[in-house]
Amino acid sequence: MRKNRLFAVVVMIVVFLIGSFFIEKKETAKQKLPTVGVLQFVSHPALDQIYKGIQTGLKENGYKDGENMQIVFQNGQADQSKLATMSQQLIQEKKSDVLIGIATPAAQALANTTSEIPIILGAITDPVSAGLVADDQKPGGNITGVSDKSPVDAQFDLAMEILPKSKKVGILYASSEENSKYQVEEAKKVAEEKGLAVKTFAVPSSNEIAQTVQVMTSEVDFIYIPTDNTIANAMQTVVSEANKTKTPIIPSVDTMVEQGGLATVGINQFELGVQTGKMAADVLSGKAKPETTPIYTFKTGDIIINQKQAEKLGISIPENIKSNATIIE
Ligand code: TRP
Repeated sequence: MRKNRLFAVVVMIVVFLIGSFFIEKKETAKQKLPTVGVLQFVSHPALDQIYKGIQTGLKENGYKDGENMQIVFQNGQADQSKLATMSQQLIQEKKSDVLIGIATPAAQALANTTSEIPIILGAITDPVSAGLVADDQKPGGNITGVSDKSPVDAQFDLAMEILPKSKKVGILYASSEENSKYQVEEAKKVAEEKGLAVKTFAVPSSNEIAQTVQVMTSEVDFIYIPTDNTIANAMQTVVSEANKTKTPIIPSVDTMVEQGGLATVGINQFELGVQTGKMAADVLSGKAKPETTPIYTFKTGDIIINQKQAEKLGISIPENIKSNATIIE
């Protein structure tokens, strides 16, 4: 009788130990899922597309969210202090194995927080002038990724074909955005080479956009917009103000044409994300190291035309351009 009792107790202890061993093992396995921490600067259609592309790029390269990898996503809502706190969280709390920064201010916030954990750049206009890498070909540190440098020359060629009477262009951007400064300089140079007078309009914040566009419409023949997050986020305001005087807008990406720009030669935003996701997967698997992986740039863009907007503005787009373009009706 006593012996039996003892036996039962021993059995119970053994069962308990075995059980707890398995539970523990399961838990450590769960904790061990490699973590990709994504920090997006703000929500606007282009960056949202890029994030979708990143998820696809990771999946296409063997990493399924929740299966053999986990994505932790944060959106900084264009707030510098949020970006800093979220970077800390992704690194210290979430223990990300690879970080992805979508847009320049997000990538900069991550870079300020770690110089060890690999950071993949998601659509950064110019990684060098943003202080993120030493050299596009040989990044050197813990950072590599994708640049969305616009085909500015092709964009102004298209603008001049569609709007041949233009004499003066106004460039609209936010003075807070490092990434825009780089592209504005380039756009200025290219536009002048093509015989246009150029005036730049830098807004201190999104509060001044409507009023600035009103001034622009009385001074310039068309408005050019670089890949500026502040402007992309307020595209509706820009379009509704410009439409009042039928001033055409040539933005630098497809999503801004969809939002009411007239036309552009743009890099597909989703594809930018897919490439970013692929590079993150390669670093996660150990196939590539940031320091020796060149920044990826897209060589060409696609022509995209907003037909409805063209009609609104009374502009007829030449057939030879239309036949090579994606038309938004
Ligand atoms: N290139 C921008 C940056 O470095 C981010 C960006 C990507 C963007 N696609 C865009 C901004 C489209 C405006 C519109 O911050």
